[in-house]
Amino acid sequence: MKKKILESLYKTKDFVSGEAISEKLGCSRTIIWKVIKELRTDGYDIESSSKKGYKLASFRDVINTFEIKKGLHTNFLGSNIIYFNEIDSTNDAAKQLAAQGAAEGTLVVANSQNNGRGRLGRTWSTFNNKNIAMSLVLRPQIEPQAVQIITLAAAVAIIKAIKECCGIEAGIKWPNDIILDNKKVCGILTEMSCEMDSVGYVVLGIGLNVNQRQEEFQDILQEIAISLKIFNEKQNASKQKLTSDGDFFRADLINYILLEFEEVYNWVKNGDEKKIINEWKEYSVTLGKFVRAYTKDSFFEGIAKDISADGRLIIEDDKGNLREVLSGEVVVKGILGVNDKPLNLGGDKIDN
Ligand code: BTN
Repeated sequence: MKKKILESLYKTKDFVSGEAISEKLGCSRTIIWKVIKELRTDGYDIESSSKKGYKLASFRDVINTFEIKKGLHTNFLGSNIIYFNEIDSTNDAAKQLAAQGAAEGTLVVANSQNNGRGRLGRTWSTFNNKNIAMSLVLRPQIEPQAVQIITLAAAVAIIKAIKECCGIEAGIKWPNDIILDNKKVCGILTEMSCEMDSVGYVVLGIGLNVNQRQEEFQDILQEIAISLKIFNEKQNASKQKLTSDGDFFRADLINYILLEFEEVYNWVKNGDEKKIINEWKEYSVTLGKFVRAYTKDSFFEGIAKDISADGRLIIEDDKGNLREVLSGEVVVKGILGVNDKPLNLGGDKIDN
């Protein structure tokens, strides 16, 4: 019913009478009034007039299944969308669904998370109504050791989506942080269930800071995190579609992310990893920089030289040895507001 009423409101810029909607949908005007009230609670700005009926007074940044589906042009990503207004973690929900057999491309998305998880056991702060928290169920037929390429592919897709949708050019810090103005705007958490030589499922979780204002970031995040809105207002450059409050439409961004990711994910499926690595390099803010890589109980430093075919970061240490890093923490000098010389950071402090 909600979907049908929304469709009627979106169809015209003008008022639609309650009578016309009730006739079309075959329900009472009282029910329509109740649904309109619910839609307002969901965030829609609906004007009402006893004579003229209802009209969408302005377009706000609302996400739900309807808003995402309405602009979706993918073949299989997001063909099944599970939306939550609030959830602990979209990755946890997606893992549960995947274990129960959810199809490849199932999208779990939430307006807010109360226990969002980041990499390396960290927490991921989620702001009510302001950011994107989404997770995709994937079932790639690749070996478990090759799954890292999916994270790199996702980073490439997000960079392209942000450019397409918001006109903003971001960079990638190895392996999966999206960086703007030397601060983190997006993180990716890839988790999987696998056997020795096959992948059962992969859950690709994306947390993107979209419409937060600077003062809404707490504590250390004030220094190391940024949102697309903050960057956009600083640059004053966007000619893109914004709400009257200067917010980006998260549903549009989700659509772009799904569309871009579908393309690069098909490259993974077709064994075209090289294409992903090449694009990743193009957007990298890590290569050529002085970095510190944290190993299990120590760290080493050097220049980030290259990335291997399966996504490992290759670092040249001060003795000229090339060392490869598959996962873990890499701190890049000059990024995330840290410019100390030499790097003297605690790993926990520098990441969102
Ligand atoms: C990182 O540490 O950089 C990764 C952060 C990933 C956060 C996203 S938000 C959606 C999904 N659900 C989670 O609990 N985490 C990921």
